[in-house]
Amino acid sequence: MMVCEYKPGLEGIPAAQSSISYVDGQKGILEYRGIRIEELAAKSTFLETAYLLIWGELPSKEELKAFEEEVRLHRRIKYRIRDMMKSFPESGHPMDALQASAAALGLFYSLRDLHNPAYIRDSVVRLIATIPTMVAAFQLMRKGNDPVKPRDDLDYSANFLYMLNEKEPDALAAKIFDICLILHVEHTMNASTFSARVTASTLTDPYAVVASAVGTLGGPLHGGANEEVIQMLEEIGSVENVRPYVEERLQNKQKLMGFGHRVYKVKDPRAIILQELAEQLFDKFGGDKYYDIAQEMERVVEEKLGHKGIYPNVDFYSGLVYRKMGIPTDLFTPIFAIARVAGWLAHWKEQLAENRIFRPTQVYNGKHEVPYTPLEQR
Ligand SMILES: CC(C)(COP(=O)(O)OP(=O)(O)OC[C@H]1O[C@@H](n2cnc3c(N)ncnc32)[C@H](O)[C@@H]1OP(=O)(O)O)[C@@H](O)C(=O)NCCC(=O)NCCS
Repeated sequence: MMVCEYKPGLEGIPAAQSSISYVDGQKGILEYRGIRIEELAAKSTFLETAYLLIWGELPSKEELKAFEEEVRLHRRIKYRIRDMMKSFPESGHPMDALQASAAALGLFYSLRDLHNPAYIRDSVVRLIATIPTMVAAFQLMRKGNDPVKPRDDLDYSANFLYMLNEKEPDALAAKIFDICLILHVEHTMNASTFSARVTASTLTDPYAVVASAVGTLGGPLHGGANEEVIQMLEEIGSVENVRPYVEERLQNKQKLMGFGHRVYKVKDPRAIILQELAEQLFDKFGGDKYYDIAQEMERVVEEKLGHKGIYPNVDFYSGLVYRKMGIPTDLFTPIFAIARVAGWLAHWKEQLAENRIFRPTQVYNGKHEVPYTPLEQR
């Protein structure tokens, strides 16, 4: 057997052949099925982009209409899922609530027919349609309120914001939210997608695939960084404090949240678009002092770490956008999951098409031939 060098974090090791998305970290390019994200952000919608990722081509007018309609029809969650969520502790993190709820879907839809395209489509529709409903339901229920039913006359993003805030959102805010979902839907072989593919490779159901990916996305080195960015900006508190804060963190060898990326060595193209979206929101709804702090931070970090290729990543400006929409900080990562579920499902489908169960190897660095010490001698 060929012996390979151990690479911590599997850096640079291909884990799949995939035609779903492409990143050029040196040039700052991200494409979904070959289409640049700048173009999709300007011209597409989240559901259209999800369709593109999962089925490989942009849908025709009729295909898109049918897909949107199916998703619209499946937004409601079973009352027993709602009741189950009601008993979740209100102090629990919404990502944990989402992971448990996504896994619970597998109990209610236990048929597993992985080679049937109709089953794949049903599962895709159900997951894309119900995840936002579950996120919004937990948010209302943890405040002691009843969840709000989805509204069929609202499109995907507007309906989510409506279910979350119990009022119809501003049209610009809903449009910007939809673009945020496009920007978060897919990003090649990241930790949660890898997790999704490993789980998919065992031929389990798609609810287990999504639940395992949600668990992986929750950590602060992955999706959870956007929450920590806001906490960091709040801790800095003023533009004057930025430089001493950055210097102290770097001296103590601490990471600055929202900066750096395993792949991008330039500013993340998603951060560029998110910054523009944040500015559009501030123009319409008034500025945010944390944006001034963020801009100063970007300048100082570029000065100190630009030579190492450390620039803002997707999480740096997304939190500011969601904050301006009045979304609580601990929902930022569940919103990331609302988008990314479509990317995970595209990888699920691709994995099934050419499946081989993941079974990597390890470099054993433990002992051998160790004698058993009886309990009384330990
Ligand atoms: C995303 C991340 C995990 C990528 O890590 P990675 O590819 O393993 O990069 P490394 O941790 O090996 O970093 C390479 C160098 O850049 C530095 N660096 C990387 N990210 C940094 C950050 N956010 N702040 C300060 N220094 C950073 C490292 O200290 C290291 O310096 P060294 O070579 O002098 O030791 C890392 O940049 C990070 O932790 N960022 C903050 C969390 C975050 O925003 N995550 C969201 C990602 S979308």
